[in-house]
Amino acid sequence: MKGIKVPKNKANDVRKILMENSLIDLGLKIERDSEFVYLPLISDINSEKLALLNNQIPDIDIIKLVIEMEFEIQKRGPKSFMDFLKGKIDDDKIQEIKKSFDIIGDVVILEIPEDLEEHKYTIGKAALDFTKRKAVFMKKSEIKGVTRIRELEHLAGVDISKTIHIEYGSRIMLDVKKVYFSPRLATERERVAQQVKNGEIIVDMFCGVGPFVMDIARHREVLIYAIDINPDAVYYLKKNMELNHVEKKVIPILGDVDHVLSEQNISADRVIMNLPGTAYKFLDKAVELIKPGGVINYYEFSSDFDTPIQRIIDAAGPRKVEILNKRHVKSRSPGVWHMGIDARIH
Ligand SMILES: C[S@@+](CC[C@H](N)C(=O)[O-])C[C@H]1O[C@@H](n2cnc3c(N)ncnc32)[C@H](O)[C@@H]1O
Repeated sequence: MKGIKVPKNKANDVRKILMENSLIDLGLKIERDSEFVYLPLISDINSEKLALLNNQIPDIDIIKLVIEMEFEIQKRGPKSFMDFLKGKIDDDKIQEIKKSFDIIGDVVILEIPEDLEEHKYTIGKAALDFTKRKAVFMKKSEIKGVTRIRELEHLAGVDISKTIHIEYGSRIMLDVKKVYFSPRLATERERVAQQVKNGEIIVDMFCGVGPFVMDIARHREVLIYAIDINPDAVYYLKKNMELNHVEKKVIPILGDVDHVLSEQNISADRVIMNLPGTAYKFLDKAVELIKPGGVINYYEFSSDFDTPIQRIIDAAGPRKVEILNKRHVKSRSPGVWHMGIDARIH
């Protein structure tokens, strides 16, 4: 059997990441000795799956921790989220709820279909026991308003919505009730961070608590203007700059991109525009900022690639647009995607 041998002081971080990615075999017992914790991995684990987790925890290279060893079978206790709710709720409904889990640091956010609302506290307790996090909330509304936040209802554990999430090694402090944050964009943020070169001047127009900013600034010599209209987002952005030691590389700006940019005299190598519902309204501004040869990382909810690409071309006017990459970042609703377009503006 394959397992992960991890020093005790890192075991909790590694266990959390493995749990988030459903890579721990919950039917086997976690072993310990005086220095190490041994975490059992699911049987169909492969190095590609593990490679995706590399760099998510500071100073830990997960692949190097893999060992062969025998684990004892768990004699008691449920093995899966399903087992916690078996007999109470239909199996297919349980799977649906499990897919909706967003685990952000010590907080779990889940979606409960209307017809299961009467079981919400049972489901919340099951999610708490299964994930071993500290708090469980359910979504009470869509993401809405200019600040892109949603209402949440506390279901289980402590009623605390402030937490620290680790993403590709960055520490992201946030309050899930006050700011936008989606752990499902982690791979996309890492993809953008990998494109960045030393020396770039970057504008993150809708930075939130700074997950793009932290990932980039931790690895590159850059200057990032990080803008958000939500005072709580900028409060946590500043906390995260401290937590990740990137204060010298980031200029935090609280305000509406429409207004604050005219006060700055920026010529940027890259503009990041992750506000997929309305970013198109700010494309003219991005084109104004971008140096010849600079890149816009643009996002839009769309069912096709042509619409967002055409908007970029229209905003660029006489400047030539080179589409470097286009991709489906994640599904938004049936047929509609959170699209990502990387465009070089000459
Ligand atoms: C979808 S969130 C993205 C946050 C961050 N980039 C991330 O990946 O987590 C969009 C952010 O844009 C901010 N926002 C919306 N309209 C804005 C505007 N006109 N000027 C500045 N920020 C704005 C919201 O407060 C929100 O934090």
